[in-house]
Amino acid sequence: MSNAQKNISSSQRWLHRIAIVLAVGTIVLIAKGGLVHSAGAGLSVPDWPTTYGENMFTYPVEKWTGGIVYEHGHRLIASGIGMLMIIITAWVWIGDKRRWLRWLSVSALLAVIVQGVLGGLTVLMRLPTEISVSHAMLAQSFMLMAVLIAAATSKGWMSGEAARPVKDSAGLQKLLLATVIFTFVQILLGAITRHTYNGMAITDFPLNNGKVIPDFTTFGVAIQFAHRVGAVILTTMIITQGVRILRSGALRKLRTPAIAAIVMVVIQFLLGATVIWTREAIVPNTAHVAGGAITFTLVFLTYIRSVRYYQFRAVTEAAADYTVQGANA
Ligand code: HEM
Ligand code: HEM
Repeated sequence: MSNAQKNISSSQRWLHRIAIVLAVGTIVLIAKGGLVHSAGAGLSVPDWPTTYGENMFTYPVEKWTGGIVYEHGHRLIASGIGMLMIIITAWVWIGDKRRWLRWLSVSALLAVIVQGVLGGLTVLMRLPTEISVSHAMLAQSFMLMAVLIAAATSKGWMSGEAARPVKDSAGLQKLLLATVIFTFVQILLGAITRHTYNGMAITDFPLNNGKVIPDFTTFGVAIQFAHRVGAVILTTMIITQGVRILRSGALRKLRTPAIAAIVMVVIQFLLGATVIWTREAIVPNTAHVAGGAITFTLVFLTYIRSVRYYQFRAVTEAAADYTVQGANA
């Protein structure tokens, strides 16, 4: 191996490490944003991009009191994530030849800029539902871009090894994609519930205002009930896909994220119930936002790995020749 190749691979290794920091840091930032809202601290710093008229980076620590700790801290971590994204975008353009990855990093950079502006606007406009929901959902979308960049810069992904053919008798890969899409819908239903202040529109669990199917007296009851039904559907989807991946015996690279997704969605379900039982206590409520992000990351990772590492083929006469032997290697 020439020195140049060695340098490239060591640079790629560092790019991968920094991309992991970006992805994990984004999940932490999402949790921190969840804390800002759960603690009712969204307007504790009333201006933007300044902080009480001062430069946000030099705002004195002794003035960080009450909700300012949450909101100002959220802005500072967000700035760090933005800077990391600038570095990664430049690094990908200089050191990686894959066009799609280059444009993905540019899209992620644009997304994080828009996200910052949405954060500022939601403060200046006093938390309008549309902007707060968009801020919550763009956060999750940006997170997936960061996860994809981290995955695509890993050694295994770049190994040049061709995807292995596997028999896909009943559209498993379509199920994996459907789960990703449905997780987005489920989080959107949660975000609308949250930003229309309907977290307590249904006050009990597992019943719904004393009934199996509640009286749809308000929008709040309808949207929260939809989120609860969505939780049952999503949990079923994640368990189904996990069991099928385990049973296949061949999809080794999918097993870990698929099992972790099952564990996580069960925890997330219980956290949702705890939000209700504790009447939206700050800790379970914030954990529920973070849990949504982690669940989303795991189902997304399962799907993108299925695309990179396996070639799903419908079982037909022609495809019957494909065996799954060796796919474990
Ligand atoms: C990378 C950038 C950012 C990410 C990923 C991010 C993410 C989030 C998330 C996930 C939430 C929680 C939403 C919820 O509880 O439903 C949130 C809340 C919030 N964020 Fe950000 N944020 C970012 C940048 C900013 C910036 C620059 C500001 C500037 C002011 C900001 C201001 C806020 C405010 C005020 C809330 C509370 C909204 C509410 O109570 O309705 N965010 N953020
Ligand atoms: C199992 C899958 C579930 C997922 C993936 C999920 C995800 C989420 C997310 C991400 C949010 C916040 C969205 C945001 O603003 O960023 C949320 C809000 C919420 N979720 Fe869930 N959730 C699930 C299950 C449940 C269950 C079973 C319940 C109730 C029994 C529940 C009750 C709530 C409530 C009440 C809110 C709004 C909290 C507030 O107003 O502050 N969730 N959900």
